Amino acid sequence: MIKVSVLGYGTVGSGVVEIIRENADIITRRAGEEIQVKSVLDLRDFPDDPIQNIIVHDFEEIRKDEEVQIVVETMGGLHPAYEFVKASLESGKSVCTSNKALVADYGPELLEIAQKHNVNFLFEASVGGGIPIIRPLKISLAPDEIMEISGILNGTTNYILTEMTEKGSDFDSVLKEAQDKGYAEKDPTADIEGFDACRKIAILTSLAYGKQLNFEDIYTEGITKITDRDIVYAKKLGAKIKIFGSSKKIGDKVSAMVAPKLITGEHPLYSVDGVFNAILVKGNMVGDVMFYGQGAGKLATASAVVSDVIEEAKHVNVNMRTLWDYEQLDLMPLDEVSFRFFVRVKRGQEIASAVEKAFGHVTPVEAGFTDEFGFVTEKITEKAYEEAAGQVEVINKIRFDS
Ligand code: HSE
Repeated sequence: MIKVSVLGYGTVGSGVVEIIRENADIITRRAGEEIQVKSVLDLRDFPDDPIQNIIVHDFEEIRKDEEVQIVVETMGGLHPAYEFVKASLESGKSVCTSNKALVADYGPELLEIAQKHNVNFLFEASVGGGIPIIRPLKISLAPDEIMEISGILNGTTNYILTEMTEKGSDFDSVLKEAQDKGYAEKDPTADIEGFDACRKIAILTSLAYGKQLNFEDIYTEGITKITDRDIVYAKKLGAKIKIFGSSKKIGDKVSAMVAPKLITGEHPLYSVDGVFNAILVKGNMVGDVMFYGQGAGKLATASAVVSDVIEEAKHVNVNMRTLWDYEQLDLMPLDEVSFRFFVRVKRGQEIASAVEKAFGHVTPVEAGFTDEFGFVTEKITEKAYEEAAGQVEVINKIRFDS
């Protein structure tokens, strides 16, 4: 029997306990051994829940418990999650986590400690909730050079943009409705400013190239500047606006960004709406592969965590090597990356004079507003865009996914 401790009995942690109990038979058959939750660490007590019998309040009890071979970290936050995970690995226990902040910040270090102690550090649930993406990137796509990753990696923002598109509502009222329904956090900053997606694309890109991509180095733009007028223009263009976390191999460098992008009907992720997430990966041999599913939620995320528990139960004292070194990934400067830009400007600066003088050839988009108009540029670099935008009065711009 493999004994497990769960750190944190919140949404995901309680889901892990539920899945291990509910699906005990199938999990035992797949793991080759019974898996039992021996203890759960939480500051709180749960007097009305049978879990109370195995609640502990002191992590040291778990660290010293030699029967515990696998630790599940579902506390969230960086501290003390980092200290507990590190101490667990150093005590010869495998760890699985759903904590994207922990993985994005400490991935290479924790993987190195796991390797040194012949145990495993797995984090399937840290990106895309219930969508299998980490293991496919590490294992199924291992023969391929990854040319591109494009992900709708955040359910809250995809829900907001979908509602704005379908109902024509403005950003603030959709956000409020999403908060009322419990889809968006009370403090939605990490989602709507793109920080959540940024950590996720940092993890995926680091794994794809085996080197560290610091999330702080990724250009990140959220959806707070997207208005109902942008949606009207997008419809005129036959496009939808989606926020992507993306990275792409260009020569021997990699470009990465989080930003809202315009995509048209032929894009594989065009129909990914609502709270769903999806990730498109392009391999140089396999071609395009897509992963779609629930990027959040108790049981979806916990299912991904338990898949790691099963994998670790099958690899006791065998480290499954994960290539993710400390060496920094060579990131392409943003200035050099090219896109077609959709741009909105105030009326009074007519296409033939001011706009084309600044941007070169553009294609106008008329959406019927008397005080502004829109146009789409040819493919130009970010640097060229910035120089041109300095010469006219821009209201907003959105990149086309290229
Ligand atoms: N807040 C995230 C989302 C889920 O809305 O997708 C956790 O990563």
